[in-house]
Amino acid sequence: MMIKENPKDLVPTFFTNTSNSYDDIVHWTTFGKDSLWKHKILEQLSDQETVLDLACGTGILTKQLAEKLPQAKITGVDITKTYLEKAKKKLISYPNISFVNQDAEKLNLEKKFDCITTSYLPKYCTAKILIKNCIEHLNVDGKIILHDFTYPKNFFVQKMWNLYFKLLYFLGFFIPNWKNVFVDLPSLIRATNWVKEYEETMRDYGMTVHRQDLTWGTSAIIVGTKTA
Ligand SMILES: C[S@@+](CC[C@H](N)C(=O)[O-])C[C@H]1O[C@@H](n2cnc3c(N)ncnc32)[C@H](O)[C@@H]1O
Repeated sequence: MMIKENPKDLVPTFFTNTSNSYDDIVHWTTFGKDSLWKHKILEQLSDQETVLDLACGTGILTKQLAEKLPQAKITGVDITKTYLEKAKKKLISYPNISFVNQDAEKLNLEKKFDCITTSYLPKYCTAKILIKNCIEHLNVDGKIILHDFTYPKNFFVQKMWNLYFKLLYFLGFFIPNWKNVFVDLPSLIRATNWVKEYEETMRDYGMTVHRQDLTWGTSAIIVGTKTA
């Protein structure tokens, strides 16, 4: 259960061969909470005309954004080609969605957005790099909405959480493509300090920031608004 030095090194291991089953796995392994968490992201949006969904994966959130904001132009970006291909196929009937294969830490889209969303990306990235890139792609008054897993602080929830990941570890023997994720993800979530790092970085850039802890502290959303 070793975490590689840079969490980003886990990205090819986790995502190269998992795109076909991702939607089912994320739904079942979070007991459907993934939908609730994405709903909380969507609650932050109202009348944006342009939205960038970073690390869009198979496009679960991208689709929901396009449905909530049918007049808006939505751009999905992901580093993993297999995930992006899956998203493109699934969302071919949405003319207001386009996709780009890029690393969010080297983002270069030559345009700005009213809102940037991302679900399950922060823990793989360096806050200072990701936020700098996001701010360069964000209009004034625009929002950055970051969502990811967190390690719960409550003692009893921690015990349940640890037990649950032990069960997933054994489940991994029956779902080989997901074994690496089930083995390495808990250590990554325990080790990451993404909420504090991204909050501090956004404040350093003069953004107003607020945070929402979700589902007994097992995930969190932070929203930063660019004021100037
Ligand atoms: C767990 S999936 C989440 C997909 C989607 N956001 C969702 O909530 O369903 C994580 C995604 O992050 C992408 N990813 C990881 N690091 C990335 C980076 N530096 N730039 C762009 N995408 C990245 C992976 O390729 C993968 O598709």
